[in-house]
Amino acid sequence: MAINLVMFGPPGAGKGTQASRLAAERGIPQISTGDILREAVQSGTELGRRAQAVMDAGELVSDDIMVGIVRERLGRADTAAGFVLDGFPRTVAQATALDGILDGRTALMVLELAVPDQELMERLTRRRVCAGCGAIVASGEGVETCERCGAGLTQRSDDRPDVVRERLRVYHQQTSPLVAFYRTRPRFREIDGSQPPDVVAAAVRQAIDAVDGATS
Ligand code: AP5
Repeated sequence: MAINLVMFGPPGAGKGTQASRLAAERGIPQISTGDILREAVQSGTELGRRAQAVMDAGELVSDDIMVGIVRERLGRADTAAGFVLDGFPRTVAQATALDGILDGRTALMVLELAVPDQELMERLTRRRVCAGCGAIVASGEGVETCERCGAGLTQRSDDRPDVVRERLRVYHQQTSPLVAFYRTRPRFREIDGSQPPDVVAAAVRQAIDAVDGATS
């Protein structure tokens, strides 16, 4: 059965880390709306120009734009065997639209990665991205190059402390209501995202097996 999964959680919860591992393990696409927007910014497209200021301020890009992007992406053939959504939905309007987009397909599974705000702030302000291979790393004292490819490490423009604080505020105001939206569904599970990445990955696998066992 296809796994149509939302990796849900606040900024820095580890959605990207876990979504990319899971997508590689299962051979299904990881659909990161943040990555799609950052690629548009890099390419200088109209979407990128509109999104950049919003992202740099830590606010949300409009529901219309985001739903359009995800509708188009989920219409592609490579999602037939499943997908991992990372960063979408982020508002009740997006979640309602997603239900409509997926009507008739395997029911959505939603895994929430729960992590306290203080740890999120530390993770995000320490996060660096490799300018060469795109690897995500937590910066340590004196580490300035990527261990994987040797290229320089950069900081995401929205990982500055003031922007991270705003992203967390926006999460609690506009995105966390989705926990109540999904919590009563049988294919929702909460996972302790403050554990080490390998332990979280094992908990993700366990949750998927448990949900499949309980609802198939
Ligand atoms: P997006 O790129 O989606 O950012 P985000 O949701 O804020 O999430 P992050 O990528 O910051 O964190 P993550 O949870 O993926 O954690 P990661 O695995 O990287 O969105 C960026 C912006 O785009 C938004 O602010 C908004 O403007 C716009 N946007 C995107 N989608 C939108 C939408 N649907 N609607 C409207 N606007 C939208 O890990 C973080 C760090 O922690 C890394 O350094 C990692 O190595 C480390 N780490 C990961 N797991 C662990 C662990 N278990 N223990 C210790 N460290 C860990």
